[in-house]
Amino acid sequence: MKDILEELEVRREAARAGGGERRVQAQHAKGKLTARERIELLLDEGSFEEFDMFVAHRCTDFGMEKERPAGDGVVTGWGTINGRQVYVFSQDFTVMGGSVSETHGAKICKIMDMAMQNGAPVIGINDSGGARIQEGVASLAAYGEVFQRNIEASGVVPQISLIMGPCAGGAVYSPAMTDFIFMVKDSSYMFVTGPDVVKTVTNEVVTAEELGGASTHTRKSSVADGAFENDVEALAEIRRLFDFLPLNNRQKAPVRPFFDDPARVEASLDTLVPDNPNQPYDMKELVTKIADEGDFFEVQKDFAANIIIGFIRLEGQTVGVVANQPMVLAGCLDIDASRKAARFVRFCDAFEIPILTFVDVPGFLPGTGQEYGGVIKHGAKLLFAYGEATVPKVTVLTRKTYGGAYVVMASKHLKADFNYAWPTAEVAVMGAKGAVEILYRSELGEPEKIAARVKDYEDRFANPFVAAEKGFIDEVIMPHSTRRRVARAFAALRGKKAAMPWKKHDNIPL
Ligand code: HXC
Repeated sequence: MKDILEELEVRREAARAGGGERRVQAQHAKGKLTARERIELLLDEGSFEEFDMFVAHRCTDFGMEKERPAGDGVVTGWGTINGRQVYVFSQDFTVMGGSVSETHGAKICKIMDMAMQNGAPVIGINDSGGARIQEGVASLAAYGEVFQRNIEASGVVPQISLIMGPCAGGAVYSPAMTDFIFMVKDSSYMFVTGPDVVKTVTNEVVTAEELGGASTHTRKSSVADGAFENDVEALAEIRRLFDFLPLNNRQKAPVRPFFDDPARVEASLDTLVPDNPNQPYDMKELVTKIADEGDFFEVQKDFAANIIIGFIRLEGQTVGVVANQPMVLAGCLDIDASRKAARFVRFCDAFEIPILTFVDVPGFLPGTGQEYGGVIKHGAKLLFAYGEATVPKVTVLTRKTYGGAYVVMASKHLKADFNYAWPTAEVAVMGAKGAVEILYRSELGEPEKIAARVKDYEDRFANPFVAAEKGFIDEVIMPHSTRRRVARAFAALRGKKAAMPWKKHDNIPL
């Protein structure tokens, strides 16, 4: 008996050693933690239960039968984050570069199946040289199996990807289908084809970092939702995000204890909107001022900054926030902002997270760049996402909201539940000057007449009351009481039941 126990320990030790001391040192030298160190930091202390520690590959080509490391380059299992269950896989770059074999893929599939069955999220830590070259098509098949599970799990359990090393070729498509992708600056990259292939095919000379580093994917491509300075910060932030999310699509997000009075008056909000309508102000100030303890987990902060998205809590309950940002492009909607916000709205709706929308939008960004890029179709994504969302929806207009963008931004017409406006709000087809120039074209040579017309238009429409008279605004509220009003609105909506007509699925303009 003692021998058997000892053998188990010896085998465990060998598996835990990964690719050995030299490769672990090389991993550390790159500023990266090992697969196991990452899991330790991600999960509650002592909560990790490992699966398939002794799984080894079955490949016999290229002399592979001589090297069969236990675990096959990926550590899998489950544990808890602040006491709530989560399934995890963490690719071990020290074992054959974390490359994906048939058995490596099967390990990932096993924990994904468990996560689906038990209704818990999956966090995937990616650090891999891609398909195990020696295994050929068996490796590609393994990826295909993982992809299919990513698709089936989408909208059922939250899926989060952390890119902490290479992630290249078709391998990128597994994270791409998860709900969130986070990267680590300077030590991770993602691309479909690497710099060498790019040089051969297009003659472009580009580094791996320029092509697919964290900066590229958080600022240019929007593939990634955020980037962190190092592994430790990334893992701590994922724990923070996890606490905002429900475990699956049948449960509500956790209710956290809160120590912030829901009726807290925020007098400074009464002067947030400047007197000059052309002067910007920081919408993020409003978001943090109404959030419990000012805690805001922002997503995609470096991309399409003309719209803000992320999670806050009100009375301890998770709320997804979408807000126009007047500081960037005057807060207008464009292709990037529409795509960014639409995907977020859909995530919230899929996981029963109520949506709070702050609106200050001059309209859609004009120009050939936008039209040729398909702003019609991309703008429709956000419109569609809001309209199909059946979660509680509360909207606050802070300043202007013009034209189609008014309807898109969670208006009453898209079945928002509570539509509030600050006294500074104005709902109109367009700004006064533009409107007058169209309506009174013949008077354009007479500046005095035009100025009077503009004044007249402003007096009539530059306020929330025209919309309020029609019931499109439920109530005009004082800015300082926004937290209380919004918290009460969401409280009133806790029992909301709404459904869309039966369909196999919709056909959102992709
Ligand atoms: C088998 C691999 C491997 C792979 C790396 N290794 N990638 N083994 N299959 N794909 C092994 C190396 O042999 C080495 O083994 C160890 O991992 C570390 O690799 P290094 O090259 O020494 O590390 P580094 O210099 O940091 O370079 C990392 C790398 C490079 C950039 C990822 O290894 C690389 O280019 N690998 C190949 C990438 C690739 O082309 N993959 C296929 C992509 S296509 P030792 O024993 O020396 O430690 C793809 C298709 C997916 O993935 C399709 C899905 C549908």
